[in-house]
Amino acid sequence: MWRFAGSIGAPDSFRRKGRNRMDKIKTVAESRTSQVQMIGQKDLNGYQRLFGGRLLEWIDIVAGVVARRHSGMNVTTAVIDSLEFCRPAYANDTIVLLGHITWVGRSSMEVCVQTFVENLNGSRELINKAHIIMVALGEDERPAEVPRLKIESPEQQAEWDAAVKRRELRSIKQR
Ligand SMILES: CC(C)(COP(=O)(O)OP(=O)(O)OC[C@H]1O[C@@H](n2cnc3c(N)ncnc32)[C@H](O)[C@@H]1OP(=O)(O)O)[C@@H](O)C(=O)NCCC(=O)NCCS
Repeated sequence: MWRFAGSIGAPDSFRRKGRNRMDKIKTVAESRTSQVQMIGQKDLNGYQRLFGGRLLEWIDIVAGVVARRHSGMNVTTAVIDSLEFCRPAYANDTIVLLGHITWVGRSSMEVCVQTFVENLNGSRELINKAHIIMVALGEDERPAEVPRLKIESPEQQAEWDAAVKRRELRSIKQR
């Protein structure tokens, strides 16, 4: 039996702020997002490899759509927590970006975006993995409550736990 993770990570802060948690609960699957790109000349750097800034733009869009689908609100990028370039990509490569939500707080959400090069035989090689914190904004453009996240597998629980550790590390660094 898997827990509703949204009730693990955030209740203290809700109680402090005297809020009632939004009743809505969503699964990871409900906000999964993919995007496909083919690398053209305009996407290359001076070494004829995919320009990191271009990839970051694509990652940010995928993360934003995941967060919009989960929250049903407009969102803004608060933090790019990790951005790991594992291998280069070149002109004419097919790039596949897959995004899914890993953790939710009150108004913030962590999204993981994995980027692959897809070979002609259909196999995929990971070239980048990123974790991004998005914040949902209400109509007043202030952070607003998002639905809780329903954790449905040991893998999703492990991702939730890793996101909590990243959050703790960030708060230590900010002190
Ligand atoms: C992100 C932003 C909305 C946060 O606003 P704020 O007034 O600081 O709001 P809060 O302190 O209530 O934080 C709201 C949430 O964001 C999270 N957050 C804010 N800064 C964060 C940071 N540096 N790291 C992790 N989470 C952060 C908070 O933990 C909180 O999460 P929770 O509601 O789940 O507990 C605000 O700083 C902002 O608009 N920044 C600019 C974003 C932007 O323009 N992005 C595009 C860059 S090109």
